Amino acid sequence: MKSFSYLALISALAPFTEAGAGANGIDVLIPRVPQQNTFPLTGPSLPVTPPSPNKTYEYIVVGGGAGGSPLAADLALAGHSVLLIDAGGDYGHLREVETPALGNPASERNEVSWGFFTHHYANETQALRDRKLTWMTPDGNYYSGQNVPEGSTMLGNFYPRYGGLGGCSEHNALVGVLPTENDWDYIANITGDVKFQAENMREYWKQIEKVMYPLPNNDTSAHGTDGWLGVSINPQGIAAQDLKILSVMIGAMEALGYSTESLSNAIADATDVFSQEVGDTAEMLLPLNVTQGIVDALGDILEWDVNRDTPDRDTKQVVARLPMTMTTGDYRRASPRDLVYDVATATNPDGSKKYKLDVALHSLATKVNFDTTGDKPKAISVDYLFGESLYRADPRSSLTEDTGIPGTVSATREIIVSGGTFNTPQILKLSGVGPKEELEKWDIPVVLDLPGVGTNMQDRLEVGVHADATSNFTRILNCTYLGTEDDPCWSQYFSEDNHDSEKGTYASNGVPMGIFTTSSVAQGGEHDLWLGGFSALFPGFFPGYSTVAATPDAKNHWSWLILKAHTTNNAGTVQLASTNPRDTPRIDFHNLYEGQTTEAADADAMALVEGMKLAMSFYDHITPLDGEFERIWPPQDVQTDEELKQWIIDEAWGHHASCSAAIGADDNPMAVLDGQFRVRGIDGLRVVDASAFPKIVGTFPVVGVMLLAAKARDDILADIK
Ligand SMILES: Cc1cc2nc3c(=O)[nH]c(=O)nc-3n(C[C@H](O)[C@H](O)[C@H](O)COP(=O)(O)OP(=O)(O)OC[C@H]3O[C@@H](n4cnc5c(N)ncnc54)[C@H](O)[C@@H]3O)c2cc1C
Ligand SMILES: *[C@@H]1O[C@H](CO)[C@@H](O)[C@H](O)[C@H]1NC(C)=O
Ligand SMILES: *[C@@H]1O[C@H](CO)[C@@H](O)[C@H](O)[C@H]1NC(C)=O
Ligand SMILES: *[C@@H]1O[C@H](CO)[C@@H](O)[C@H](O)[C@H]1NC(C)=O
Ligand SMILES: *[C@@H]1O[C@H](CO)[C@@H](O)[C@H](O)[C@H]1NC(C)=O
Ligand SMILES: *[C@@H]1O[C@H](CO)[C@@H](O)[C@H](O)[C@H]1NC(C)=O
Ligand SMILES: *[C@@H]1O[C@H](CO)[C@@H](O)[C@H](O)[C@H]1NC(C)=O
Ligand SMILES: *[C@@H]1O[C@H](CO)[C@@H](O)[C@H](O)[C@H]1NC(C)=O
Repeated sequence: MKSFSYLALISALAPFTEAGAGANGIDVLIPRVPQQNTFPLTGPSLPVTPPSPNKTYEYIVVGGGAGGSPLAADLALAGHSVLLIDAGGDYGHLREVETPALGNPASERNEVSWGFFTHHYANETQALRDRKLTWMTPDGNYYSGQNVPEGSTMLGNFYPRYGGLGGCSEHNALVGVLPTENDWDYIANITGDVKFQAENMREYWKQIEKVMYPLPNNDTSAHGTDGWLGVSINPQGIAAQDLKILSVMIGAMEALGYSTESLSNAIADATDVFSQEVGDTAEMLLPLNVTQGIVDALGDILEWDVNRDTPDRDTKQVVARLPMTMTTGDYRRASPRDLVYDVATATNPDGSKKYKLDVALHSLATKVNFDTTGDKPKAISVDYLFGESLYRADPRSSLTEDTGIPGTVSATREIIVSGGTFNTPQILKLSGVGPKEELEKWDIPVVLDLPGVGTNMQDRLEVGVHADATSNFTRILNCTYLGTEDDPCWSQYFSEDNHDSEKGTYASNGVPMGIFTTSSVAQGGEHDLWLGGFSALFPGFFPGYSTVAATPDAKNHWSWLILKAHTTNNAGTVQLASTNPRDTPRIDFHNLYEGQTTEAADADAMALVEGMKLAMSFYDHITPLDGEFERIWPPQDVQTDEELKQWIIDEAWGHHASCSAAIGADDNPMAVLDGQFRVRGIDGLRVVDASAFPKIVGTFPVVGVMLLAAKARDDILADIK
């Protein structure tokens, strides 16, 4: 049996080498601050400044992620003075950040990486079974795997976040899928706020979306056409040029029972023409001028629009094109960072600033201050520390020194906390808003006992089924993932002379299609599984994962990923680990059996078992157009349902953490927010980010977070007296 075992050594850019015999699983050692390329930004960025001294704003938004950035921009567009504070910088034009295929490398760039070490289980015996668990070695490097160097300290499971303007919308996989109708209707039900109903949230989608992919019959009635968020699909010729990608896609389609005859015929026609023209076609891509038939045949099978507004949208099994947050034309990542940039830099004809939006970068918000003289505490100002890399999730931060220039900035109307699922509860607790016992334990003066803060956290469990092929994926053959000075794939992508599919593999997120389906244990027939694949080796997150996933010299990997939508496990917590705002909090997920009833955990695990078996059947149905595949992760001795289930318990990870400062009903003592995002019991304080969801939404969260921001804008403006 083959297992993948390797040691990624001290330069992250250096190719990894095989670890010793007997090593089973991930075995990766990497410096805390890896050596990386130093390519210049491709475009302008906002300057790094602290908040202006002594300036007062109507609104302060803390955290410029998927929630905070659009909200800050919208309030400024509505004529108000707004300060947006973010702990990181503006790296919207870092090559890895803006290139759709390079989201994984972007998530480990030193400039923007916030690596949290989380706990899947409080039970350490169970936690230690995870083959990708990370430790800090005595000499300060990160080790992930089972051959732990002596004297190392266990850190936990690496969880990538983005510290910088745009938040995780700057490094995510760009998949832009709306939550389900039930997700929204549920929030409408518990809050009594009809604006949350799916049909009304759809109206916000129409405001923010700029749909840039062709729709059946050109019917844009379910979409926005002139919003700030470009939404596109991968240029369809990109996958069609690579026979091996096509064979993987066909394997999945066949396994799911789709007829692929016309697709296979189109491929045969194209290869005939090509080999007659060229002769030996080994390791060559089909030229674009012979792939139109393949593109058309794919078009007949693939669902065009998973964001359509039809009654079957959340239940019908589809193999789909993925709407992605990127702009057609340049195929650059589209995100709220661009909106903030545009609003903050817009000028009047006389050159003066058009909108009252200031953006303070490298400014770590440490505390919200309150006026406690009235009936209710009122949020009035924010304390911050100015300096680069102050937060200890940033690999460049000092683990021992406390630097940073302190300051305070005031808001006359409201403060909105949008630090994301881990940071929002931390900021609230450091400010004295949270469970009384926890605050007292740390001697934090209690402003308001709000027991729900940092509870109810949920995540979407994910596993992969990985196989290696006997030949390479041609599509990525030339790519060095910016690990070399001259990455032909990047030049091809960035060149203005190339259009659409001519831009090649970097103009896509690398995921040629996604499967939305329903397991046998799902409630109400709604999708509870998503499967997508890419040509990479991705067994989950650990420091260095992105350099292992895709390397200049291994081009024969494929990973099918299985994501479990929805769960009843809401046992996750975010608790303070110290009162130092630079320290990361303690993050516990209590996965599966540790966080929910046996019955509920069985259902979540069984759905993932079904998903893994589906992925394995995809490989089984591959008719090799070019080389065979062998499953290597999980290893082939993980076979029965029981073995797969144990694998899931041991290995499943997440990256959609949500719900840690949740909206809830008036009579729910654990509710942190009301339906207008107001922190209950406090004036002038709201939370707008993924932590606000009461239940984890849909298959992908980021669009849902941006829609929360759009609704919050209306709620905030409606409250102006
Ligand atoms: C690798 C990866 C891939 C993903 N892929 C997808 C995908 O394809 N589709 C999808 O829908 N979702 C995806 N996600 C998830 C999605 O991007 C996040 O759920 C979403 O961005 C969360 O938005 P947010 O506003 O809650 O927080 P974030 O986007 O994390 O933003 C938080 C912001 O707050 C700032 N901040 C935090 N604390 C402070 C502080 N104390 N002071 C100042 N600033 C602070 C941070 O710098 C950051 O800008 C992915 C996530 C990851 C990690
Ligand atoms: C800001 O306010 C403080 C205290 O009121 C004052 O000492 C300082 O000079 C002010 N700074 C500026 C730049 O106006
Ligand atoms: C902890 O996990 C181990 C390994 O899964 C298990 O055998 C043990 O029973 C667990 N302990 C408790 C207290 O649940
Ligand atoms: C919302 O409430 C209505 C009326 O009680 C009910 O029919 C519906 O199923 C609920 N929807 C959700 C998603 O909770
Ligand atoms: C859709 O619009 C495009 C561009 O405007 C046009 O070329 C195309 O023919 C239209 N398709 C249909 C089906 O109407
Ligand atoms: C495709 O383009 C190549 C090179 O430009 C040319 O040689 C070939 O004849 C074209 N093939 C078809 C089928 O148009
Ligand atoms: C690799 O790059 C070379 C030179 O840029 C190009 O001619 C060739 O077609 C590329 N091959 C693939 C498979 O992309
Ligand atoms: C696959 O590509 C690598 C270079 O990335 C090359 O070394 C190897 O020989 C290729 N393998 C096959 C089977 O073509």
